[in-house]
Amino acid sequence: MKKVGFIGWRGMVGSVLMERMKEENDFSHMESYFFSTSQTGEAAPKMPNSHDKLLSAMDSKELSKMDILVSCQGGDYTTEMFPLLRKEGWNGIWIDAASTLRMKDDSVIVLDPVNRNNIQEAINKGTKNFVGGNCTVSLLLIALHGLFKENMVEWVSSMTYQAASGAGAKNMIELLDQMKSVGTAFSANPAADALTLEKQMTSLMTSSQFPTQNFGHPLALNVLPWIDSEMPSGQSKEEWKAQVEANKILQSQTIIPIDGTCVRVGALRCHSQGLTIKLKKSAHLSTVEEIIASANDWVRLVPNNKPDTLKALTPAAVSGKMHVPIGRIRPMTIGDSYFNAFTLGDQLLWGAAEPLRCVLRQVLQ
Ligand code: HSE
Repeated sequence: MKKVGFIGWRGMVGSVLMERMKEENDFSHMESYFFSTSQTGEAAPKMPNSHDKLLSAMDSKELSKMDILVSCQGGDYTTEMFPLLRKEGWNGIWIDAASTLRMKDDSVIVLDPVNRNNIQEAINKGTKNFVGGNCTVSLLLIALHGLFKENMVEWVSSMTYQAASGAGAKNMIELLDQMKSVGTAFSANPAADALTLEKQMTSLMTSSQFPTQNFGHPLALNVLPWIDSEMPSGQSKEEWKAQVEANKILQSQTIIPIDGTCVRVGALRCHSQGLTIKLKKSAHLSTVEEIIASANDWVRLVPNNKPDTLKALTPAAVSGKMHVPIGRIRPMTIGDSYFNAFTLGDQLLWGAAEPLRCVLRQVLQ
């Protein structure tokens, strides 16, 4: 059995990965070793065929005994340890959630429902680096897979509504802390009229008492239209990733432009996206729906009506779920061959952990 080492398995993405691997009985297909940056020698999680003690995540000798390493530890860890391991001659398979290696020529961005065959070709050719894509990109591609497969898309504009979890566990907790502050202030004055409350809350969220250590700004009762760093193009890095990563996953011969504004909102773990899709030629609504709905096992078409939309096409309905719903599909009035759509998905499942789990199973076959 292959030796698989896990790093960063206790963080948010890592924990979701562990849960999914237990659900799918993945551990019985490998010998698992758990690495830690701080608790070397302590008891490791008990899985079928697992080593009982935690090993040091900074010990390249221990790491290089593994056939496969799976890292959810983050970009800084990848930047430090990955080149060192390769320099020391480790030739195993590196599976990573961080973005550090995504755009490198010798890495494949993995998204099982969309590029499983390309991943298999890469495995057969001896590729060793497999990286999960950006969450909004992965969720967008699962939702629009059918249209891309049929080569129908001229361009896509995606306006995102991204959950706090995408910024990390501390940020998710900070959002809840902010909500608690709001709730506490409201409980102190519940009988006030709406405009008095609004003034009170606006003053609270812009005060120095409001917990904003991680986001730097209020997210509760607010939206933040900038995610990640600034790019020379005027895009945020999150916006820049959409086109480059999607086209790499799709192995596009001609680049399909994908751009829009990425916005952080007060959802917990589901990223949503409002889409304008420009098709290469006009198509009937029913054809577009059918192509989208039948593309893979995870996409779910939500009929474009109010009750179904509000029941099934919200973070509240989709949090913790594996499927990727898409709805609000309709022709737009702005021109022939323009379609509107809205899609969302759990940012920690298909947005992060699940593509890693799938490629791990694939390389173990
Ligand atoms: N960059 C994403 C976000 C996280 O900030 O929401 C997942 O790729």
